[in-house]
Amino acid sequence: MTRHLLEEQRAGRINADLRLLIEVVARACKSISIAVGKGALGGVLGDAGSDGEASINVQGEAQKKLDVLSNEILMEANAWGGHLAGLASEEMDHSVPISDAQPRGNYLLLFDPLDGSSNIDVNISVGTIFSVLRCPDGVTTPGDEHFLQPGTAQVAAGYCTYGPSTMLVLTIGHGTHAFTLDREIGSFVLTQRGMTIPEETREFAVNMSNQRFWEAPMQAYVGDLLQGREGPRGKDFNMRWVASMVADVHRILTRGGIFSYPLDSKCAAKGGKLRLMYEANPMSLLVEQAGGAASTGRQRMLEVRPTGLHQRVPVFLGSRAEVEAAVRYHHEHD
Ligand code: AHG
Ligand code: MN
Ligand code: MN
Ligand code: MN
Repeated sequence: MTRHLLEEQRAGRINADLRLLIEVVARACKSISIAVGKGALGGVLGDAGSDGEASINVQGEAQKKLDVLSNEILMEANAWGGHLAGLASEEMDHSVPISDAQPRGNYLLLFDPLDGSSNIDVNISVGTIFSVLRCPDGVTTPGDEHFLQPGTAQVAAGYCTYGPSTMLVLTIGHGTHAFTLDREIGSFVLTQRGMTIPEETREFAVNMSNQRFWEAPMQAYVGDLLQGREGPRGKDFNMRWVASMVADVHRILTRGGIFSYPLDSKCAAKGGKLRLMYEANPMSLLVEQAGGAASTGRQRMLEVRPTGLHQRVPVFLGSRAEVEAAVRYHHEHD
């Protein structure tokens, strides 16, 4: 990864600060990978909190020990990295500016420290998602409002998946590239340059148990997928749902598919389930850079104007033709 990023720098696609920032994030992901890999032996499974009291985050979710630990690892590593003006996380109510006592830089980092929390205790892949923005000119102590930039403004985005192997998938806006952690040597090695998502697919990912809560366009879209080759789509579809966005998106980047977490009547008041700033936007940039598409169903994801740090959105992303089909159902059934 170091060599790849140095080549990108020599080609004028990245500056030294951003390169080093990404290296710090990658290092933090290695620490998280070690903690995840120890499982029960590391005492990292189960819920956070003490005296039987659950610890609840700003999302209203009970935090797992690994949510808290991963957040601490990313905060500690990056706050002292010297390339940031501020950080924001799924697990923190507000963003945190870099203090005067710490080395400061010009970037803003947002992250979902541990994605797929419900899979931690059952030994299924989890991940970390991150997004890098520029700190607006003249701002030295950024507040939440300075992070509210559309996804098109991201200068880098990536995720790390802690699965059978640990992989980091990265874009700096020039393609999407995958690196696999060599555990013996301790470094990420470039294993796939220029990932490309097949344009067509026969595989969809959605939590089907929410079907009765969906809106009309989603009902119509999935209804037609389920009819298979006898229906209007004219082909049989397969379904997969890991319930770790990182793992589901990694599969789609590798072999195609469509991932969706649509609006439903349970999450409608919040605007959706997944978070725009540190889940939907970084994943959308990675997917677009791999030739796929990403939408809310009604708008290109990367053009959504954020209104809140923890804002939620409906998500459709993956194989271009299939995302376009889902968007069409939204136009036709709205
Ligand atoms: P997180 O663990 O960071 O809160 O995110 C969980 C998300 C995402 O990873 C996944 O796609 C989705 O929640 C699963 O939701 P359901 O449990 O409703 O299927
Ligand atoms: Mn969570
Ligand atoms: Mn998540
Ligand atoms: Mn999370």
